[in-house]
Amino acid sequence: MTRLVCLLGSPRRSGNTDLLADAACRAFQEAGGEVETLALNKLDLSPCTGCDWCKQDHERPCIIDDDMQRVYDCMLSADAILWSTPVYSWAPSVELKIVLDRQFAWGDYQTTRWAAVLAGRPVGAVMAYGDPDPATNGFYHCYHIVRVVATASGGRFVGCVHGAASARGDIRQHPAVLDDAAALGRKLYEAGLRRQGLA
Ligand SMILES: Cc1cc2nc3c(=O)[nH]c(=O)nc-3n(C[C@H](O)[C@H](O)[C@H](O)COP(=O)(O)O)c2cc1C
Repeated sequence: MTRLVCLLGSPRRSGNTDLLADAACRAFQEAGGEVETLALNKLDLSPCTGCDWCKQDHERPCIIDDDMQRVYDCMLSADAILWSTPVYSWAPSVELKIVLDRQFAWGDYQTTRWAAVLAGRPVGAVMAYGDPDPATNGFYHCYHIVRVVATASGGRFVGCVHGAASARGDIRQHPAVLDDAAALGRKLYEAGLRRQGLA
């Protein structure tokens, strides 16, 4: 069974980011996979403190004993990963940014067992923003941050689907973007299968 873990980075349930993530997850399931979804704002996630504990080799990536330990485990037990976030202040949401910062422990610049530990797992992303102009809305910042963290952690970035919508659910007015999110879900499934050696 090919498994996807989906991290919901928006604090607004059933909002535009969730709808994009849902379209990708449903397509992954329809292709035959299994999905686990974690709503990051429901978890106890503390920001990185820059303590540098992760620069030494330990049994676990980070000393902070909070729900990030579960998030690490979920990503490492998955065959494919989906990150979702609204653009907030030209950046990923605080919830997703904490996860990305805590992946400092997984960076390919580390010399521990955790360096680049995603080991080729496919990583995809979905993003929603209010301002439709990518030159001003912060999408490029967000995209760059997510892509480099995925890659530095050893993941293989397979794509990002994004669209403009403001009020909760308005992304439904852009069915082509939802179709693209479904296509990303199928791509993650195929990539997860290939990584498992099953396709
Ligand atoms: C605190 C906050 C900051 C935001 N910052 C931006 C921004 O920098 N650029 C942008 O285009 N939209 C911004 N928005 C709009 C949201 O990205 C947009 O409404 C998005 O659809 C929200 O996704 P959601 O429905 O999943 O919550 C911001 C919204 C909030 C609440």
